[in-house]
Amino acid sequence: MARFGTVAVIGAGFYGSTTAQRLAEYDLFETVVLTDIIEGRPEGLALDMNQARSMEGFETRVLGQTTGADGSGYEAIASSDIVVITAGLPRKPGMSRMDLIEVNARIVRQVADNVARHAPDAVVIVVSNPLDEMTALAQIATGFPYHRVMGQAGMLDTARFTSFVADELGVPVSSVRTLTLGSHGDTMVPVPSACTVDGAPLTDLLPADKIEEVVTRTRNGGAEVLALLKTGSAYYAPSAAVARMVRAVHEDSGAVLPVCAWVDGEYGISNVYLGVTAELGQGGVHRVVETPLTADELAQLRQAAEAVRAKQADVRGL
Ligand code: APR
Repeated sequence: MARFGTVAVIGAGFYGSTTAQRLAEYDLFETVVLTDIIEGRPEGLALDMNQARSMEGFETRVLGQTTGADGSGYEAIASSDIVVITAGLPRKPGMSRMDLIEVNARIVRQVADNVARHAPDAVVIVVSNPLDEMTALAQIATGFPYHRVMGQAGMLDTARFTSFVADELGVPVSSVRTLTLGSHGDTMVPVPSACTVDGAPLTDLLPADKIEEVVTRTRNGGAEVLALLKTGSAYYAPSAAVARMVRAVHEDSGAVLPVCAWVDGEYGISNVYLGVTAELGQGGVHRVVETPLTADELAQLRQAAEAVRAKQADVRGL
């Protein structure tokens, strides 16, 4: 595929910089713009990444740009087709994602205002936590149509689930299919009924208590990494997850991926950003794709929707 277009990554911390690196190494974009409020950090990282081009075999240019509280520097994202928002504080051990809501809401609102001003036609993908709430806030602050604002969570949670199942059974990750829906938090809904290994139902291969163990580990997947790292949260798998979403939009692939998208009637749930499977392509979310669920899984998904709906209403005032 010919190289074209620009993607911007806002926030050049661990998550943002690894995302920029992955996107540059895809060699699908003309330019990857990386911004941060820490003076010199995005420029320094961009310089470093560009110097890897001859060895890693990519021609995409990474452009680093410091931005100011007054919005200076945002001209750099002007031609972006896709903007990934990673700006915001990560958790510390013992914190829940929800503990970040006030401080990250201020950051995401400021970033979203500038995205709306400088890249008014972009597709926005949010990864800042708490994810479902920050995605809703980005849509409110940009005023973009719902289909052009989505969040990354289900890709990552599903990949973690897949990794744990593969390790548990001693099989390649490529033979495992898993799925999680719901929120990126306590009301995450792993969907064992949709999980298979080489096409065989997971429920035939692992006893119920083992599946429950893996499901619990998936739900706590971020906290497990955080507890080991002590400072900062996970970023290798998270950046792989969002880079895949960016790629699906950029290539207009129509891939059906687990993402945080606006739900409007699907599963009997309306008017809330929630983890669902959705078809991605040019312009963002083409449609939410309903997955057949057991009665219990559907009940859990509806419960997750109500839990995040209340919090998403709160972010309007933040
Ligand atoms: N504009 C641009 N960048 C900002 C802003 C802002 N207004 N405010 C903060 N940042 C930058 C910080 O300067 C920092 O470089 O966001 C970056 C965040 O990087 P890290 O602290 O390394 O955090 P990271 O691991 O990248 O996580 C970012 O993703 O998974 C979530 O919970 C995580 O909310 C967190 C986000």
